[in-house]
Amino acid sequence: MTTQSAPGKVILFGEHAAVYGRPAIAVPVTQVQATATVQDQPRGSGCFISAPDVNHAFRLADAPDQDPLAAIVYETLTHLGAPEPDVTITLRSTIPIASGMGSGAAVSTAIARALAEHLGRPLDADTLSALVFEVERLHHGTPSGIDNTVITRSQPVFFVKDRLVETFAVKSPLHLIIGDTGIPSSTKDVVGDVRAAREERLEHYDSLFRQIGQITVMARGAIVAGELYALGALMDGNHWLLYQLGVSSPEIERLVQAARQADALGAKLSGAGRGGNVIALVQQDTQEAAAEAMRQAGAKNVIATIVS
Ligand code: MEV
Repeated sequence: MTTQSAPGKVILFGEHAAVYGRPAIAVPVTQVQATATVQDQPRGSGCFISAPDVNHAFRLADAPDQDPLAAIVYETLTHLGAPEPDVTITLRSTIPIASGMGSGAAVSTAIARALAEHLGRPLDADTLSALVFEVERLHHGTPSGIDNTVITRSQPVFFVKDRLVETFAVKSPLHLIIGDTGIPSSTKDVVGDVRAAREERLEHYDSLFRQIGQITVMARGAIVAGELYALGALMDGNHWLLYQLGVSSPEIERLVQAARQADALGAKLSGAGRGGNVIALVQQDTQEAAAEAMRQAGAKNVIATIVS
C-alpha cells in the first residue's frame, strides 16, 4: 500500500495577470491536504478509483468522459509506459472545492505521486508538475500553471508562465487568515469572462495586468526584506486592481473590509474571484480578532496559516 499527499495553496499576488505572462506569488497551505492511497488487488481486477468524500467511485475502464481523476491516472501511466495496474486508488481531501485553494491540482498531484511510487517509479517535481498541468488544462481551459507549480513543489514560488520557477526566502513569517466566502468560484468561467472583457478593452486590461505585475515584484522585495506593513499595503493595492478587473463580489468585499477593520495589515481576494477565498495578512496578536471579524462578516470557513 502506498500513500502520498499534496497541500492546498493560496495565491498571494498576481492572479489573473499570471495568465497573461505577468509574475505571481503563491504559497502552499499545509493545513489542508489531498491524500491518495494505492492498494494492490488480485491479478486481473484492473484499476478502481474511489473518492468517498464526493461519493464518486468507478472502474478506470468505465470512467466518465473527461473525468479529471481518470485523466491523471492515464497521464501517469502513459508517462511511465505502464499498463493498467490491478489496484484501488482511494482519494481523500480536506481542501475546499472551487474556493481558489487548488483542490484540483492537489488531488491530481497526490494521485500521480502515489501511483508512480507504488509502481516503483517516483516522479521528480518538474515531471509531476507537467503531468498535473495537462489535467488542469482539461478543467481550467487556459491555466497559467501556477497551481500545479506551487502544489507539486510545496514551497513559496515566484511564478512567471513558461519560465523556470523561482523560490525565495521569507524573512519574517507571514501570518495569514484565509476566509472562505462559501460561494463556489469556477476558475474556467472567471478566466473566460476576463478574457472576453479584455478583448473589448485591451489597453485598459493590459494596464491593470501590468500594474498587478509591478505590485507582485515589489511584494517579493517586501517578503524578502520582512517589511510586513509594506506587504499589507501591496495586498490592498492588488485587491483594488482585481476589483477593477471585475472579479470581486459583494461577499468578497464584506470579508476584505471586515479584515481591514480588525487591523489586518492588508487583505485581498485570492484565486479566480467572484467567490472563493479572501486572504488577510495579520500580526500574531490581531490574528484571532481578524478571524472572528471575517466569520461575523459571513466567512463559512476560516483557516489560519503561517508562511515561513
Ligand atoms: C487561479 O488559481 C489563478 C488564476 O490566475 C488562473 C491561473 O493562473 O491559471 C485566476
